[in-house]
Amino acid sequence: MSQNGRSVLVFGGARGIGAATARAFVGEGARVAIADVLEEEGRALAEELGADRALFVHCDVGLPEQIDAAFNTAIERFGTVNVVFNNVGIARYGTVDELSLEDWDLTLRVNLTAQFVSCKRAVREMKQSGGGVIINTASILGHASQKTTSAYAASKAAVMGLTRTVAIDHAADGIRCVSISPGTIDTPLVQIAARTFKDRKPEDLEREWAAHHPLNRLGKPEEVAAAVVFLASPGAGFITGSDMLIDGGIRSELYA
Ligand SMILES: NC(=O)c1ccc[n+]([C@@H]2O[C@H](COP(=O)([O-])OP(=O)(O)OC[C@H]3O[C@@H](n4cnc5c(N)ncnc54)[C@H](O)[C@@H]3O)[C@@H](O)[C@H]2O)c1
Repeated sequence: MSQNGRSVLVFGGARGIGAATARAFVGEGARVAIADVLEEEGRALAEELGADRALFVHCDVGLPEQIDAAFNTAIERFGTVNVVFNNVGIARYGTVDELSLEDWDLTLRVNLTAQFVSCKRAVREMKQSGGGVIINTASILGHASQKTTSAYAASKAAVMGLTRTVAIDHAADGIRCVSISPGTIDTPLVQIAARTFKDRKPEDLEREWAAHHPLNRLGKPEEVAAAVVFLASPGAGFITGSDMLIDGGIRSELYA
């Protein structure tokens, strides 16, 4: 069990990639604090994982004080935080002439500023406890873009810049900081997006999105979770500052 006795704080852990990662960490012997706005799903997951292994804390990462409160709850319960997974992400669509400043600001606050606030607190805690690992969720859209995703794509590219800088600033403190860039993963986020195109069947769209990936399928949340658990493990001890593509090969192909 590669994570035995470690304590992990997962922001955005109630469903999708975050939930799969919370399950995977507990499967590897860790204790997990799940911080999310989705009260019902978050509590149900914590219950499924067991009261001795998991807790849920309500947290809107758009509010810095709630990020701090999530750290306080995890530390009160587990004594320390060894791994932080900054995984919350939202998308607002529109070309720059259509997208409102409010939607731009919200996307950057939730996807990027929240990771800055969390990194700030994580670094302070990890300096005291002798080190730790921070994993930030970026995206394939931080590497290449899609139409109407300016705010999301900008936030995800910036996550990689933040990650690199935290990594080099705090390497000497025993802290590693890495990011992950998933391709299209079969989560509620993607399932909901597939249902928003009124003139298209969701299953046709998902098949189309799958075909963009050389592996010709969507990724599974469990596949992302396995990579995150590895990045947090001592086996990944020489990996810091970098971004891991978990993308079914989509970034490698110029023309399909
Ligand atoms: N699914 C994909 O194809 C894909 C691809 C690339 C990157 N990502 C990134 O992976 C991460 C997880 O995505 P997912 O597909 O599992 O999404 P999801 O929507 O299924 O899960 C995201 C979780 O974040 C929570 N959340 C949203 N806003 C929040 C807030 N303000 N405060 C606290 N929690 C909040 C949601 O309640 C949910 O539990 C995101 O950062 C997303 O941008 C996803």
